[in-house]
Amino acid sequence: MARDTGQNTYRSIHQHAQSDPNGFWLEQARAVDWTRTPSVGVDQSRSPFNRWFADGELNACHNALDRHVAAGRGDQAAILYDSPVTGSKRSISYRELTDQVATFAGVLKAQGVDRGDRVVIYMPMVPEALVAMLACARLGAVHSVVFGGFAARELAVRVDDCQPKVVVSASCGIEPSRVVAYKPLLDEALALASHRVPHCIVLQRDALKAELVDGRDHDWDSVMQTAEPAPCVSVNSNDPLYILYTSGTTGKPKGVVRDVGGSVVSLLWTMPALYDVKPGDVYWAASDIGWVVGHAYIVYGPLFHGCTTVLYEGKPVGTPDAGAFWRVIEEYKVNVLFTAPTAIRAIKKEDPQGKLVADYDIGSLRSLFVAGERCDPDTLAWSGTTLGVPVIDHWWQTETGWAIAANPLGIEQLRIKSGSPSVPMPGYDVRVLDNDGAPVAAGDIGAIVVKLPLPPGTFTTLWNADDRYVSAYFDRYDGFYETGDAGYMDDENYVYVMARTDDVINVAGHRLSTGAMEEVLAGHPDVAECAVMGASDTLKGQLPVGLVILNAGVERDHDEICAELLARVRTDIGPVAAFKSVAVVERLPKTRSGKILRGTLRAIADQKEWTMPATIEDPTVLDEVTDRLKTLGYAGGS
Ligand code: COA
Ligand code: AMP
Repeated sequence: MARDTGQNTYRSIHQHAQSDPNGFWLEQARAVDWTRTPSVGVDQSRSPFNRWFADGELNACHNALDRHVAAGRGDQAAILYDSPVTGSKRSISYRELTDQVATFAGVLKAQGVDRGDRVVIYMPMVPEALVAMLACARLGAVHSVVFGGFAARELAVRVDDCQPKVVVSASCGIEPSRVVAYKPLLDEALALASHRVPHCIVLQRDALKAELVDGRDHDWDSVMQTAEPAPCVSVNSNDPLYILYTSGTTGKPKGVVRDVGGSVVSLLWTMPALYDVKPGDVYWAASDIGWVVGHAYIVYGPLFHGCTTVLYEGKPVGTPDAGAFWRVIEEYKVNVLFTAPTAIRAIKKEDPQGKLVADYDIGSLRSLFVAGERCDPDTLAWSGTTLGVPVIDHWWQTETGWAIAANPLGIEQLRIKSGSPSVPMPGYDVRVLDNDGAPVAAGDIGAIVVKLPLPPGTFTTLWNADDRYVSAYFDRYDGFYETGDAGYMDDENYVYVMARTDDVINVAGHRLSTGAMEEVLAGHPDVAECAVMGASDTLKGQLPVGLVILNAGVERDHDEICAELLARVRTDIGPVAAFKSVAVVERLPKTRSGKILRGTLRAIADQKEWTMPATIEDPTVLDEVTDRLKTLGYAGGS
């Protein structure tokens, strides 16, 4: 991508994408290997179910692997796997990865997986997880990866929703403090689910072997030995590449669907334009394959572009120390690192002066990208000073699949403004609207929306839930996608993302639903009513805090009940919810119409300024809940 030639400035490229979206994206689509080149850009006849490149045909796995082997990249590392938690490392070349993926595609095919069939992948951060994802793409099957930190019930909900023919899993995941036995969680999930899964393939890891269910479960290594490699299946551009479930306002997660053509075109475009990387560069997204960042930038983006991707099974701290990231950068000559601000905060907490950087040669690093949550100015400044490279905050969502706003280093580096993920990316026409749908003035806060059509690579629907797709995202503001984030834009079009407008919270870069946690608490036999809110936390950004009202007549010990409630959320949603604070209250603050005033509760917990809601039923209740929040360490308590 040319730099600053006048015609190729950010402004001119954004303008081009806005005034002629079809021309712009068809031009970008030329970088893709199509089996049938698309002649049309976006079909808006069923908006908001817009379709990009509808007459195109291609295969995502071919674009990630085979085309690079054919072009002479066979010996280059595709994956550099580094696992401090098991003490192992592996380099897998493009040729080896292509062979493994073709063989595993043959395994899936032999188990009846065809184009359009779903495969659930519930695995830790091991190369086989990527092999499974790419094998699905090779067959035109649809993968749905479930993050390992989710519990059996969450897995069961996803299995029932997408009805997979096969589940691919592993015997265990390895957290620094414990070995997490995945197989019992999988067995429990399949027992809870109504959908019957005929086949499971289980990778047996050395740390813990799993018992296999006769007839249903197959050992990864054994099935790989006998399978016939399968070729790439050419599919329509609008065939789904994957379903990725994400938290909404209720306990039922939303199955975000992304199509093949849009994904390949958009991710391929971002690699040079946004991240400023070229084929052969080493790209490291220190995220998890269970999240959208992992799909886009551990797996697909770097491989579409012929880069080497780093797959790191470890943490920023504790594996073994806060120098872990710098060690990986030195060892693999990482050019671009992408992580969540919470990971940097964790490092900064252990090594406030950033002294450990001096132990490593991080000269290969050109930039650090952060996303997943708001990046606080301290973290941004600390990272820049410690690493000596541009630190780029960028804003995106599971729904969009790639950045809505960023600083496109490969086009031109714009001024970095602390607290802002910079400017809308080409293809995104971002606006800020008030409650009535009218645009607000620069600097004023409102709902952040994107004018339709959204660019390629964004979600095409919610799995099995076309109605919810429309009602959750497009009903409120006619002609716009409602991001669910509130914020403002300044007079230079920089976006500032300040808060969610719904019940979604962000805990250590993980997106979680307070509504889902409330459903779990409400299911306890002693609980009459409850509220869960996200309170600020210096390390994880936010942490969930629960307040419950007990049923009349319950006389059990409150500590005992609270311990049961914490255990329930851990068992039903998973440890990733980090639900560690709950207290019993007599009453909750409500409006006269009975709505719990969660915003006021959150402001009290965070000791932020707040005004007494005019609609509050009984203001005296606020003193009671403030006292309880203090006992939990919030609202000024310690
Ligand atoms: N399988 C099983 N359990 C998991 C898991 C997995 N894949 N991932 C996390 N967990 C568990 C952890 O062991 C922990 O359990 P505990 O309550 O027994 O300690 C719990 O879930 C919370 O995990 P986590 O949020 O990772 O907190 P942490 O204290 O272990 O680590 C950070 C804190 C900041 C280091 C870590 O959250 C991090 O690296 N975050 C970055 C997130 C990210 O990459 N987001 C994607 C957007 S880019
Ligand atoms: P997820 O779908 O898990 O990627 O979470 C998306 C949400 O995370 C967004 O809607 C925002 O609330 C938040 N988010 C992600 N990136 C940023 C960022 N750079 N700045 C502020 N918030 C962010």
